[in-house]
Amino acid sequence: MPETNEAVTHAFWLAGRKATGESTLEVTSPWDGRRVGAVSVPTEAQIEEAVAAADAVRDEFAATPAHVRAAALDHVSRRLAERTEEIARLISDENGKPMKWARGEVGRAVSVFRFAAEEARRFNGGEAQRLDTDAGGVGRLALTRRFPRGTVLGIAPFNFPLNLCAHKVAPAIAVGAPIILKPAPATPLSAIVLGELLSETELPAGSWSVLPVPNDRMPALVQDERLPVISFTGSDKVGYAIKESVPLKHCTLELGGNGAAVVLGDYASEADLDWAATRIGTFSNYQGGQSCISVQRVIADASVYERLLPKVIAAVEAQVTGDPTDDATDVGPLVSEDAARRVEEWVDEAVQAGAQLLTGGKRDGAAYAPTVLADVPADVTIAREEVFGPVLTVQRAEGEEAAYAAVNASKYGLQAGVFTRDVQTAFRAHRALEVGGVIIGDVPSYRADQMPYGGAKRSGVGREGVRFAMEDYTYERVMVLTGLGL
Ligand code: SIN
Repeated sequence: MPETNEAVTHAFWLAGRKATGESTLEVTSPWDGRRVGAVSVPTEAQIEEAVAAADAVRDEFAATPAHVRAAALDHVSRRLAERTEEIARLISDENGKPMKWARGEVGRAVSVFRFAAEEARRFNGGEAQRLDTDAGGVGRLALTRRFPRGTVLGIAPFNFPLNLCAHKVAPAIAVGAPIILKPAPATPLSAIVLGELLSETELPAGSWSVLPVPNDRMPALVQDERLPVISFTGSDKVGYAIKESVPLKHCTLELGGNGAAVVLGDYASEADLDWAATRIGTFSNYQGGQSCISVQRVIADASVYERLLPKVIAAVEAQVTGDPTDDATDVGPLVSEDAARRVEEWVDEAVQAGAQLLTGGKRDGAAYAPTVLADVPADVTIAREEVFGPVLTVQRAEGEEAAYAAVNASKYGLQAGVFTRDVQTAFRAHRALEVGGVIIGDVPSYRADQMPYGGAKRSGVGREGVRFAMEDYTYERVMVLTGLGL
């Protein structure tokens, strides 16, 4: 397996070419503190150059033929697939994600670019609408096409250092919108590799930049009027602060969640409960629980709760913790020791307030043990906020309606999973749950990269998922043709 080259300081990508600034950002492994590499940080002047280049190429890029954009996207998809092992190792090194999940992430990014290529070929064919349905519209036809809103500022998080960058970049290229990508400071290296693959394409210079801008220099970029679209993934606090600071901009916010898995009374055979428990055990802990749709809450019908609980605990305890580079590891460290300390504080607070610690509850550096809590008081932090760590709370509900009410008793609403075998129940859950996605027969953590993805309530606004982000980055412009012999 190729090793990451710790000695290297990587250039960033300014308007499609390599550049270096005057300072560097060190990247270290959350697992063992080893230096993974470093990336050069752009100066103010270089940031300005990238934004000006994007602005200058805006019209040309919007008019680029679909086959050119699709070919570039296909190229990136192919190259990601060819370099899977190396890039997975890089993700694992900079983020602490176990290799099995890092490989999965690269595979998803391969699909995102392929979906974007396919969508670029069929997007915006134009829709014709006859207007002679009223006397005033005789001989007239409305033709609607979508046009980019302008350059996208994509702000990506640390938890999927490659794929959540892909979700910003690929739809922008697909619609011909320039993009300035700002990766997370903890995990910029995967985005730099993505830039390398983009640099192998024929996309116009200026149409993309990858700038590891430090967070404290972001407000100026967010305010820049040449960047009318902001696509942000991260915490609700930062997301809404951005949106409130630029009320006239188009903002897509993919924010937090505290995903619930509901196990209803009809999901009661041993095999059903085994499946539910296995999925819950895996997806409350995948990537150390650092996914906005990891399972944070299990809400089980009282009729199955006592049988489900030991199975959930066993599934959580079966997670293999340790070195993320080991193929056998399921759960690695959190992104930093600070993150693990915060999780520790929240669990300790819940236990002191009366919650039962059923397993886990231990921290070792940046690693936190997979943990299950029951009887968690409603007012403690972990019951209200997104834990973003490997911690699960379990609670009983008396019937379906009570279960949905418990899911909805949250400021978040990203996705929910409902374990039921009944199609009528599935439709009732779909109607009742105030979330962006309801997954029937599985955990809330299921995401297919082509489907709409985003939240209700404090979980955000707008949708990703390739075609949905393409719609989000564009707006409809109608043209009325007159004097036609229709
Ligand atoms: C997220 O954490 O919001 C992304 C989850 C995913 O893409 O699977």
